[in-house]
Amino acid sequence: MVLLRFPDRFGLLYDERFHAGILFLNAIGEIVWPVLKQHNKTKSQHHEQDEPKKAPQERHANRLTRPDMAINTGPTEDNVLNDMAKLPSYLPMRVPLLDLSEQYRALGDSIREGTNDVLASGCFILGPKVKAFEKAMCAYCDTPHAIGVSSGTDALLAILMTLGIGHGDAVITTPYTFFATAGCIARVGARPLFADIDPETYNIRPSAIQECIEQNCQRDTDGIWKTRSGERVRAMIPVHLFGLCCEMDTLLEIAERYRLDVIEDAAQAIGAEFPFSKRIARAGTMGKIGLFSFYPSKNLGAAGDAGMVICGDEKLAANLRTFREHGMQPRYFHHVVGGNFRLDEIQAAILAVKLPYLEKWAAARRTAADFYGAEFGRAGLTQRISTPCEPYRNCGLTNHHVYHQYVIRAPMRDALREHLGKREIQTAIYYPLALHEQKCFVYLGYKKGDFPESEHAACETLALPIYPEISREAQRYVVDSIAAFYS
Ligand SMILES: Cc1ncc(COP(=O)(O)O)c(C=O)c1O
Repeated sequence: MVLLRFPDRFGLLYDERFHAGILFLNAIGEIVWPVLKQHNKTKSQHHEQDEPKKAPQERHANRLTRPDMAINTGPTEDNVLNDMAKLPSYLPMRVPLLDLSEQYRALGDSIREGTNDVLASGCFILGPKVKAFEKAMCAYCDTPHAIGVSSGTDALLAILMTLGIGHGDAVITTPYTFFATAGCIARVGARPLFADIDPETYNIRPSAIQECIEQNCQRDTDGIWKTRSGERVRAMIPVHLFGLCCEMDTLLEIAERYRLDVIEDAAQAIGAEFPFSKRIARAGTMGKIGLFSFYPSKNLGAAGDAGMVICGDEKLAANLRTFREHGMQPRYFHHVVGGNFRLDEIQAAILAVKLPYLEKWAAARRTAADFYGAEFGRAGLTQRISTPCEPYRNCGLTNHHVYHQYVIRAPMRDALREHLGKREIQTAIYYPLALHEQKCFVYLGYKKGDFPESEHAACETLALPIYPEISREAQRYVVDSIAAFYS
């Protein structure tokens, strides 16, 4: 019997040679998971230390697994995933939705060096760190212009203001996104027009945009599309949700047909790629203008709020820089009413340290997603739950998905979430109420049932823990815990 000490938990670990069980005590001494097994007198008793050292896999295999967490260690195909799949999961553990500690442990010295530079320089606003990070982002996204801003929300706001979108305008977007996308449309005085999502990708469905325009708008004599209440339909904001690009080829065709600007909300999808027939493009670079959020939990996260706008047009980029600083050019001469949308030097310094690791992290997230997929198969759960859709997987892309979130669709979602919570597995619901049903948007006149796919998704989806460093053991514990719920 081995006494284990976990961060806030003690465990007595079963070893078949001792015919005991597994007993875990949490920090306040409650017993969790008392699993006992019949003493088997036919087996000899040795102390583990007396045993010759065995391969980790063999040692793991001797330990007790909860009956509802039985594992299949049988070999299948000869690939990395299956090698990883041989590691058993049986220990109760705390699995956070996201854990940034490993990233900080690895990069802490460089991050501190970068922030110390800023503190020593005394230059905190729009200095060399912002410039350098903007340049690095241009290279990473393969785009001519990048403008560092104070958050993803402010990126949206600054873009809409720069494009002159406001009162008398309407902008089409998805009702199944983070609030900021539609919130900013409303904040500049324009009307959010919603179009439903594809039930598999959770991204806006191109044909729904077309239906939205054809059914709710009419074309005036100048060929401009207007809503019934007279607002001019100016733009669409597709959101590359959870790290998967929208169907940008079809969306761009629709945008051209209805003369709409395309603003790509790539807040969750930095680095994600889309397969055009003749080229591969990164999220944010396909429309007129795109934006990222560097909220700490994003794939590239700052130590606070930060964001970025990217675009191909020089004049638009220059205007954005003006709007970023109160519409000021030169100092204290204001041509337009902008805002304080500036990216801090300290955040830029941190982001510049992290950016070179983004591709590696995206690959690690994908490996983790693949492992979840394999584990759900092993656990026989693929008929019960829907794993994320990967429409571009076989299109020759590297980042066909960047798995900002790993979102499943699960029956009895709320009960499942509670069950996982009891096992200390953190999950999240993105998003529990579609935007057309939010109180603040009642004035738009939508009602329940208007966007059924978004409404279903809001009731059925669950985000599971995913981050580059998540252990296979933790993932297997998550899957086994889900299997236990449905068994
Ligand atoms: C799709 C989407 N758009 C916009 C934002 C706003 O970004 P920020 O939190 O940096 O303001 C977020 C943030 O989560 C988001 O997920």
